[in-house]
Amino acid sequence: MSASGSNTQILANKYSPTGAPSLDIFKTVTVPAPTKDSLKENQVLIRSLYLSIDPYQRNRLTGATDYFASQYELNKPIHNPGSAIVEASTSPDFAVGEIVDVPDINWENLSVIDATALRKVPSGTSARDLVTIFSLPSFTAYVGLTEIGKPKAGETILVSSASGAVGQIVVQIAKARGLRVIGVAGSDDKVEHVKSLGADAAFNYKKCGDYVEAIKKVAPEGIDIYYDSVGGEMLDAALATINDGARIVICGMISQYNKASGEVYGLKNSMKILDRYATVQGFLVGRYYGTATETAFISEVGKLYREGKIQYRVDETVGLENAPQAILNLFEGKNHGKSFVKI
Ligand SMILES: NC(=O)c1ccc[n+]([C@@H]2O[C@H](COP(=O)([O-])OP(=O)(O)OC[C@H]3O[C@@H](n4cnc5c(N)ncnc54)[C@H](OP(=O)(O)O)[C@@H]3O)[C@@H](O)[C@H]2O)c1
Repeated sequence: MSASGSNTQILANKYSPTGAPSLDIFKTVTVPAPTKDSLKENQVLIRSLYLSIDPYQRNRLTGATDYFASQYELNKPIHNPGSAIVEASTSPDFAVGEIVDVPDINWENLSVIDATALRKVPSGTSARDLVTIFSLPSFTAYVGLTEIGKPKAGETILVSSASGAVGQIVVQIAKARGLRVIGVAGSDDKVEHVKSLGADAAFNYKKCGDYVEAIKKVAPEGIDIYYDSVGGEMLDAALATINDGARIVICGMISQYNKASGEVYGLKNSMKILDRYATVQGFLVGRYYGTATETAFISEVGKLYREGKIQYRVDETVGLENAPQAILNLFEGKNHGKSFVKI
């Protein structure tokens, strides 16, 4: 918490085009806190409670102009989804003490924000739920699996980064829908967690040797859906093992995010897309907010979660000042589960 009258902010300090980012791309500063007297009409003074930590934030600090999300502005606060509590309000829609969903919250203790930039929180949902079970990656998992993967009972799905924020939900929804689920993760502990979520098999890609052989060993029947969060060599290996009519869900490519465009891994098994009549589709979850898919997600995942039929491991970092390190941890596999910061 900031000292009375002061506001801690995490700013974008410099761009890092390639390679593993370091902490100096961020800068922590202390500035005077906004007060309720600074509110204009229909504005809200919010105190940040939780911040979502997501891999694509790294791509917003490369300086690239062709990325789908805008670059963070240097010397301005980092921003991303989070949750907050209302401290003062000139809006008839938001009352003091109310928990609010903030799709784009500044990384600072206190912010003045337009009421139109806030979302109401459904009853029964906590400030923490908004950055965990109902977070952007959890919804992403649901969108990618249901809209693009189009899962059918009896099929086999391969899920990379299976113990992560997206992967855990994919594994469990696929299992609930009657698929055979194979998980891939980067440590033995994560592999055990994926199995505990109900996966039929899982392996550690850092220890398995040849990826194609590793997949064939646990899925000799072949892959009907590949839910890809990592890209690169694992995507290539998955292509070598797909069945007729396979769907490749391109959700993320974290293994490539630190590379220059000319260094991105070139696929060797792309011919399989042709002769297996496969569909490869990328997507960004943003387009699905406010749609029937979001309603279905809140209903289906919310129900399973409340009934204890879905587990969601989380990785909590405490303190705003530790948020930058939480981003870096994603690229070293140091997080286990949905990463977020409690302020
Ligand atoms: N399309 C969309 O709208 C959308 C929305 C949200 C997220 N995503 C994407 O979904 C993916 C997963 O995101 P998340 O939030 O669920 O993160 P996460 O899986 O909880 O955390 C990231 C994990 O990626 C793995 N990883 C890191 N570097 C890697 C590398 N070089 N090769 C292979 N794996 C690596 C690590 O797990 P291991 O220890 O298992 O290696 C790490 O823990 C990311 O690519 C993200 O950008 C896409």
